[in-house]
Amino acid sequence: MMMYATPERVLISREEIAAKVKETAAMLAEKYRGKKPLVVCVLNGAAVFFADLIRGMDIPLEVATVAASSYGDATTSSGEVRVTKDIDVGIKGRHVLLVEDIVDSGRTMKALTEALAERGPASLAVCAFADKQSRRAVDFKPDYVCFEVPDLFIVGYGLDCAGLYRNLPDLRVIGDAK
Ligand code: PRP
Repeated sequence: MMMYATPERVLISREEIAAKVKETAAMLAEKYRGKKPLVVCVLNGAAVFFADLIRGMDIPLEVATVAASSYGDATTSSGEVRVTKDIDVGIKGRHVLLVEDIVDSGRTMKALTEALAERGPASLAVCAFADKQSRRAVDFKPDYVCFEVPDLFIVGYGLDCAGLYRNLPDLRVIGDAK
């Protein structure tokens, strides 16, 4: 059986995550009530957050997915953004809410929102689970953020290290001494 060591330090517990995501979902439900938003999961990292967030939004909504890649398997951003899977429905005239796990350099969300804005959505906003503002390399600010996080290598709740640890229920830190 394959085994791997779980990163030890919990940065944000599953209980704290659940409370904050619930609160964010309720706030978004009020913002988007009556608008039937298209809530878009930015694969793969946002899948866990997205699943919790939409179940906390007690309004009619539709879902879609998009995939963009900026890191590959490295731990630092290459600066290149590729849309590897486009949204497969039209967004013209729709209220679009992109759901992202983390905004780091900001390149992925800047590139994606600029590309999608050209299709004429009624509104376009970004909800990020985590925001690592200290790493920002381009001018981008998510509209809604659950947690501002420090510049540490964090995994869990959808976030990976070379593809692993996305299934950890807490947000944990890799590679620090604590
Ligand atoms: C990660 C993360 C964001 C992006 C953030 O995606 O999910 O999409 O990097 O970095 P940036 O702000 O510097 O652009 P990744 O390419 O690792 O794909 P994943 O969602 O499949 O993990």
